[in-house]
Parts: sequence; structure tokens; C-alpha cells
Amino acid sequence: MSRKAAITGVSAYLPDDVLTNFDLEKIVETNDEWITSRTGIKERRILKDDRLGTSFMAAEAVKSLLAKTNTAPEEVDLVIVATVTPDYFFPSTANLVCTQVGIPNVGSFDILAACSGFIYALGMGSQFIEAGKYKKVIVVGADKMSSIIDWQDRTTCILFGDGAGAVMLEPNEEGNGLIDFNLHSDGTGEDHLIMKGGGSRFPASQSTLDNKLHYIRQEGQAVFKFAVTKMADTAANIMEANGLTGEDIAYLVPHQANKRIIDATARRMGIGEDKVMMNINKYGNTTAGTIPLCLYDYESKLKKGDNLILAAFGGGFTWGSAYIKWAY
Ligand code: UT7
Repeated sequence: MSRKAAITGVSAYLPDDVLTNFDLEKIVETNDEWITSRTGIKERRILKDDRLGTSFMAAEAVKSLLAKTNTAPEEVDLVIVATVTPDYFFPSTANLVCTQVGIPNVGSFDILAACSGFIYALGMGSQFIEAGKYKKVIVVGADKMSSIIDWQDRTTCILFGDGAGAVMLEPNEEGNGLIDFNLHSDGTGEDHLIMKGGGSRFPASQSTLDNKLHYIRQEGQAVFKFAVTKMADTAANIMEANGLTGEDIAYLVPHQANKRIIDATARRMGIGEDKVMMNINKYGNTTAGTIPLCLYDYESKLKKGDNLILAAFGGGFTWGSAYIKWAY
């Protein structure tokens, strides 16, 4: 049997501060009924301490992952962090995480694929294991979305939250682990979901500040149309390619951007709500964090050999899916 890369532990970090829909009613012209019915979100977590960036949350998730899996920092071979809110352009957030956790001198890098980042990073990390190069690879999805939110823009500020999830990947010879994955992108999504300022096209300046280019901007309806089709397509395609029907699936692990998008994906897969991991009500959209946070919340319900389908869609556009046989 060929070697697979299996998730052998999941951990997470969520900031303590909770921002509810009712709190948001006091900040922008919105209401709990609108947010709940359009998105499924009731509250989200916010990392309030201005001195802390995404690396803090990622490092906390990794520290508890190491404790939970009885792993010494010296045993880790590689760390990959998926994020769109790195502490800096460089050094990478993964570099900072290694130092904060005390993982010495290993390779570490960030992946930028927006809401699909965790699936991209999982696919990447698994290749090192399958090739026999590494034995312990940590994959993190983490975002401090509150750092790029315009709190006057009611179309975006109600959607996002902060959080981090981390998984350990190790070799598995029993046929469990990452069986298949698909990655996609389409740069024509640029105009629909973007943070324009601060890069080489619009370097930070008085003008980028005045024009609020350092905030996330989204044309919600346009993104919704793509998301609903592409996330369902990629989930259905990976099932078909692997000969799976809805009955074979233990759980859909979807990116948590909008409950309506998740419901549409589940319908297309032919599975009921009971087989859908959902925590958007508690955390909102934590971008690269959503999928590992789902795995963390549902870990106790999972059994060895369970078939999971991960699916995500996000800025870029990027989208992708993964088929995992749970290993413990
Ligand atoms: O994770 C990355 C990928 N992102 C996504 O997948 C998100 C995809 N998009 C969506 O989930 C949805 O488009 C949103 C949740 C962002 C918006 O829902 P929608 O049903 O598409 O609403 P809409 O943008 O069409 O707005 C409907 C109305 C508008 O008013 P009018 O023009 O009908 O009078 C908006 O101005 O709702 C208004 N509106 C709000 N009202 C209360 C927009 N935001 C709010 C708000 N509270 N926060």
C-alpha cells in the first residue's frame, strides 16, 4: 500500500473576545436578522490586542498541537502557514511561528490562496510526506481578518472573524490520509474580492490611506455566484473521481463563508445537514482558518476510516477540494 499523508492531530486557537451581531448593530446599519438569514453568522472572535498578529494565533495553535500529539519541537520537519493576513510581507508568518514555538531551523513558508489556503497548504504539505522526505509536517490555517476590515463597511465587517487551526501530518501505511485533492484558480476574480493597498501595484501612501485601499473589498453577489457553483463543482468532481456517493461520506468539511453556499454544496453532494461540519454561527469567516477549525470542533465525532470531503472557495479566485480518509 502506498504511503499517504495522514492528519494525526488537530488543534486551534480562538481569541477570547466575542463580537456578536448585536454588537455590530451599534457600529453599522445592520441587524441580527439580516446577518443570520443571509450568512448564518451569529458571532465571531476578535483578536483585540493591537500588538499581536496572525503569528500569535498560529503559534498558540501549534503549541497546543505539539502538546496534544506528544511531539517535541525538535521532531517537526516543516511548517506551512496559509494566511492572507501575515504579520508582515516578510519574514513569513511561518518563520515567526517556528521561532515563537521553539521549532529550530526547519523549513517554513506561507501560502497565499485566500479562503482556499488550507486546502492548498494541505496538498503541499502532503507531498513532502508521500515522497518520504519528511515525517512530521505542520499545516496551519490562520487569519486575523479584523486587521483588514473597514468597520464602516457593513457589507464586509459582518462576515469575518479571527482564528487559527493547525494539523499534524504524518506518514500512514494503512491507506488512511489524504487520498486526493484538486486545486483551481482564476485571476479574473481580482475585481470582486481584493485588498488593493500595500503591495507593489499600490504601495502604502497617503493616497492609499485616503482611499481606504488597505481594507478587504468584496462584491458579495458576484463572489456568491462563483462560490456556489465552484465549491459544489469541486466537491462533486472529487467524489466522482474517487467513486464516492453521498452515502459513502461521513462529513463535508466546507469553508465557512456563507451557510447558503454550504447548503448548496451539500445538496449537490447528496448529503444531509447531519453530515456537514458547520461552525460559521460561532466564528464567522476566518478565511484560511475555517476548515481546520471545523476539524477541531468535530474531532471527537470522527472515526478511523471516515471519508471526509473538504471544499473551499475564495479570493483570487481560488477554489479546491480534498478527499481524506480519517486516520484515528
Ligand atoms: O470567503 C470568501 C468568499 N466569499 C464568499 O463566498 C461570500 C459570497 N457572498 C455572500 O456570501 C453574500 O453575497 C453576502 C452575505 C456577502 C451578501 O448577501 P446577499 O444576499 O448577496 O446581499 P446583497 O449584497 O445582495 O445585499 C442585499 C441588500 C442590499 O440592499 P438593497 O440594495 O437591496 O437595498 C444591501 O445594501 O442588503 C443590504 N446589505 C445589508 N443590510 C443589512 C448589505 N449588507 C448589509 C448588512 N446589513 N450588513
